[in-house]
Amino acid sequence: MNVEFPPDLLLRLKSANHVAVLTGAGTSAESGVPTFRDAQTGLWAKYDPQELATPQAFRHNPALVWDWYTWRRSLVAKAKPNAGHFALAQMSSYVPEFTLITQNVDGLHQQAGSLDVIELHGNIMHTKCFNCGRPVDEYQGTGESPPRCPYCDGLLRPDVVWFGENLTEYALSRAFLAARDCDIFLSIGTSSVTLPAASLPVEAMELGTSTVEINPDRTPLTPHMTYVLAGPSGVLLPKLIHATWPD
Ligand code: OAD
Repeated sequence: MNVEFPPDLLLRLKSANHVAVLTGAGTSAESGVPTFRDAQTGLWAKYDPQELATPQAFRHNPALVWDWYTWRRSLVAKAKPNAGHFALAQMSSYVPEFTLITQNVDGLHQQAGSLDVIELHGNIMHTKCFNCGRPVDEYQGTGESPPRCPYCDGLLRPDVVWFGENLTEYALSRAFLAARDCDIFLSIGTSSVTLPAASLPVEAMELGTSTVEINPDRTPLTPHMTYVLAGPSGVLLPKLIHATWPD
C-alpha cells in the first residue's frame, strides 16, 4: 500500500508538543480481536453484545454474562499487539507529551509498550465484585459461575464499563483535559458513535485543534476531521511514523 501523507499533517505531527490519541476496537482488529460491532461468532452468534454487556443482563443471568466474558477473555488472551499498537508506543517516544486514550478493554496497547494508557471502558482481564465494587484479581475457582467475592460473598464480574454505566470520573476527566490541551488529536479505529468517548475529538475540533481520523470506513465524524487517512491502522500508523520521523 503506497501512501502519500499531506505534508502539513507531517509538519503538524512533528512540531506538536502534545499529541492525544483515541483508539477503538478497529486498532485491535488486525490482532484478531473482533470489533465491538462485528457479528459474534459460534455459540454467541445469537446474542447481541449490547444485551449482554449490561448490569441488567448480569442480574438476570449472571452465569451467562460471566461465561460470555470468559469466552471473550480467551480470545483476548490469544491476541497479540499488531504493528499499529507498536507504532503508537513508538510515537510516544518522539513527542514531548503523549496521551493515549482507549475504548478497548484488551490491554494490547500496554502489551505493545504504551504507558499510562487511559482505559475509558476498563480492562476485560480485571475482575471486581458486582456487590461491593472491590477489585478482586485473586479468587477461588470454586466451580461456581460467576465466582464469589472473598470480601462480601457477592458475585464477581469483569472490571469493564457496561452499557448504562458511567465511566470512571478520573479516566474521563484526564481524557477531556488531553483533548483540550493537545496540539493534534488522532481518532483511530473507532466508529465514533459511543459517547462520551466520541465527543473527545469534537472537543478538540471546537478549539480549532487539528484532528486526524484513521479508519478504513467513514464515520459520522469523517466530514469534520482535518485529515482523513482511509485504511487499516496496522498499515497506516507505521507508515505515518516513518514519514514523520524518517531517521
Ligand atoms: P466499533 O466496532 O463500533 O467500531 C470499530 C471501527 O473500527 C469501525 O469504524 C471500523 O470501520 C474500524 N476498523 C475496522 N478495522 C480496522 C482497522 N484494521 N484499522 C482501523 N480501523 C478499523 O468499535 P468502537 O468504536 O471501539 O463500549 O466501539 C466503541 C465502544 O462501543 C466500545 O468500546 C463499546 C461499544 O459500546 C463499551 O463496551 C462500553
